[in-house]
Amino acid sequence: MASKPSPKLIAWLIIPSCLLIFFYSTLLPLYTTTRTPGSPTSKIPLLPSAPCDLFKGHWDFDPNRKPMYDSTCPFHRNAWNCIKNQRENMGRINSWKWVPERCDLNRVDPGGFLNLMRNRNIGFVGDSLNENFLVSFLCVLRVGDGGAKKWKRKGAWRGAYFPKFNVTVAYHRAVLLAKYEWGYDKFPKETPLVFYKGGQPIHPSLEMMDGFKVVVENMLAHIEKVFPQKVLKFWRLQSPRHFHGGDWNQNGSCLFDEPLEEFQLDLWFDPSNNGVNKEARKWNHLIEETLKGTSIRTLDLTHLSEFRADAHPAIWLGKKDAVSVWGQDCMHWCLPGVPDTWETLTDEMLAIELSLEIKKLNFNIVQREEALEKSRELLFTEMCNFAGLKSEDLKKKWRRLNEEERWCLAKGFVAEWSAHFHPLSARSVKEMVEEYLGQSNDFSDPVSSKMFPDLRKLLGFNRNSEE
Ligand SMILES: *[C@@H]1O[C@H](CO)[C@@H](O)[C@H](O)[C@H]1NC(C)=O
Ligand SMILES: *[C@@H]1O[C@H](CO)[C@@H](O)[C@H](O)[C@H]1NC(C)=O
Repeated sequence: MASKPSPKLIAWLIIPSCLLIFFYSTLLPLYTTTRTPGSPTSKIPLLPSAPCDLFKGHWDFDPNRKPMYDSTCPFHRNAWNCIKNQRENMGRINSWKWVPERCDLNRVDPGGFLNLMRNRNIGFVGDSLNENFLVSFLCVLRVGDGGAKKWKRKGAWRGAYFPKFNVTVAYHRAVLLAKYEWGYDKFPKETPLVFYKGGQPIHPSLEMMDGFKVVVENMLAHIEKVFPQKVLKFWRLQSPRHFHGGDWNQNGSCLFDEPLEEFQLDLWFDPSNNGVNKEARKWNHLIEETLKGTSIRTLDLTHLSEFRADAHPAIWLGKKDAVSVWGQDCMHWCLPGVPDTWETLTDEMLAIELSLEIKKLNFNIVQREEALEKSRELLFTEMCNFAGLKSEDLKKKWRRLNEEERWCLAKGFVAEWSAHFHPLSARSVKEMVEEYLGQSNDFSDPVSSKMFPDLRKLLGFNRNSEE
């Protein structure tokens, strides 16, 4: 039976509102065998020799582009199921393709992705915007495993299980950044915003941004402690909102047919323009600074999403009175839609992390092999000194020796050598010499060593024995 992530894993004290975490059950290097070489998703050879910023680029219109799933995906939430709710322009919304500046971005291959994740668990933590992301994730992955089942566990909000690959994707709903306690006494009139540490108010009281920084720092310390290095962790930056002409509770709207132009982005989102959602970039900056030096990677999905004022559910919410009660939804995203691109980028980021891990591993193997080679050479040099022979001569001599004589030489050498170094067995010495002679064609005289001046006669060897 498949095991599922324990609820303990996702029972958080400190709770991120915009965080997404992947957790793996085994070490990264094991993935090497699971991604088929040459498959559309094997991006490893492209990386990282041609570094590119996946998150910088533009949206290209491609009329032939089709979404990967439709309104029948069982993981949909009604309010975001824009095809079912007959949002205008859904075809057009899904015809835009994100094109990073200096690299190709292939669409995620759901089967390949699930294969990469085989026997592993993926966790999302966050508020409804991450649930929005989750739904996209599940509906895309379901293309790779039609047997996907809804998954529910106490302590987790919801998720899915992909039986073909034994992958569980779980979502833990957490709308608050930090643990809080409600009580009127905690909110004195003169300072409406009070941050607590260890149950005590922080003095002097902190401004919003400084308080936010303290909370983020605490969260990161907690995450680093709870999730070990082998868990790959990503933090998704802010998902921008596009309320135009007023905020969400002021009849703000987003009835756009086209993505914003690049030059419009600053007008909307630069803090100096004081627009809707002006804090998002400031928060992002603070989060990015705080993430530096931690093991958590950034998924900077903000910029590419800032363009997409056209892709929110707006007034197509699937319920008659929803708009008059709640206003337009210019915050979540239509599905299929922009979060499907988030999923593609997440897959790409995983491939990058994976290739770096493999590179590191290969580098270590190469280094170890080089170190071994060097050791063999040194050992052989000492053996030459021990035998009182030039390397060329010892090479010839060794070849003429029978097994028993070789053992004898190795043992004699070890008897002496171990007085100077951590002892090697005669067996390893013999093996190392044989490997050295087997692999090396270059028998130039090794550097002479005076380490064993008295030993050369031990087994009847002396400088002239070959001559
Ligand atoms: C499924 O994956 C879990 C780890 O998430 C693992 O412990 C379990 O052994 C796997 N089951 C099978 C049948 O491979
Ligand atoms: C929003 O629009 C409704 C109907 O047009 C109007 O009654 C209401 O005053 C508006 N609210 C704001 C905050 O502008």
